[in-house]
Amino acid sequence: MSELNNIALKIIGNGKGILAADESTGTMTKRLENVKVKSSSENRLKFRHTLFSSKSMTTCIGGVILYDETIKQEFDSRKIPKIISDKGAVPGIKVDTGAKNLANSSEEKITEGLDGLRDRLKEYYKLGARFTKWRGVYIISNNYPSKIAISTNAHALARYSALAQEAGMVPIVEPEVLMDGNHTAEICLTKTSEVIKKCFEELILQKVDLKGVILKPNMILPGSKSDQKISSDEVAELTLKCLNESVPNEIPGIAFLSGGQTEIEATKNLDTINKKNKSAFIMSYSYGRALQQSALKYWSKNLDDVNGTQNVFNHRANMCSLASQGKWTEQVEKK
Ligand code: G3H
Repeated sequence: MSELNNIALKIIGNGKGILAADESTGTMTKRLENVKVKSSSENRLKFRHTLFSSKSMTTCIGGVILYDETIKQEFDSRKIPKIISDKGAVPGIKVDTGAKNLANSSEEKITEGLDGLRDRLKEYYKLGARFTKWRGVYIISNNYPSKIAISTNAHALARYSALAQEAGMVPIVEPEVLMDGNHTAEICLTKTSEVIKKCFEELILQKVDLKGVILKPNMILPGSKSDQKISSDEVAELTLKCLNESVPNEIPGIAFLSGGQTEIEATKNLDTINKKNKSAFIMSYSYGRALQQSALKYWSKNLDDVNGTQNVFNHRANMCSLASQGKWTEQVEKK
């Protein structure tokens, strides 16, 4: 089990974090169409390879979450997981098969993918993956998340985690309480705490080794349609309160999702969290949009401008790395 702990620390220790490049083909198609690029398998690979071969992969990125399509692809006859591990980062894989409608709860979701998971994990291990991701998704309203959504998703996250560890891979446990809605940050705190506590209750019940787990939570924020405006200091204080009260000490670290925050918001909030963090938890990043947005926009203007795109990505990754150490400033952001 210490092997899993070592992998976790390699992924998020020493100022490194995770590049979440595991968008499903459907999600990636929307991202590419937004910047007017055709979503072909070749273009999806071209953009992702541009990121995976950039300089910051060795200094700022400890792990990359891949999608099933990408982990099986090659670029210039080199396998993608090998390209990533040659940079010193750990290849990872999203193993859930998506959030589906939850029976008896009209608006909520349950994440699927447990059937056949043991065999798929063996295949991904052979392809080079050493960590995995499963995302549970929860909505906030007066009645939600419901007890059914909280307990069924926690149960699935724990079953997935136990299987991932059995296969020799670190599970990333991602219970994402969505930003959508007009709720306050205080409501987000209450609901997120309830969700995270239930996840750990199930992980412990199912004998998952917590030293070999990375938690990927949302930060505590007001809903995206809420009138409430809170400072980065308040986001950090509420987020730390939530995690300090809900996460067992054995967990080596936490890697936040960006969840719809802008690149700067996600960076600044992470930095403030680290400036205030007095716990032993590593507080790092596992960003999708907040690491890729500017790079994707730049790349869409000229798909062959590898250097320019990498410069944009390297800057973003450097800023996130500084934030994960509480060393980011607005001055360094502008350099
Ligand atoms: O599951 C969600 C992604 O891995 C993280 O994406 O940072 O854009 O929310 P995001």
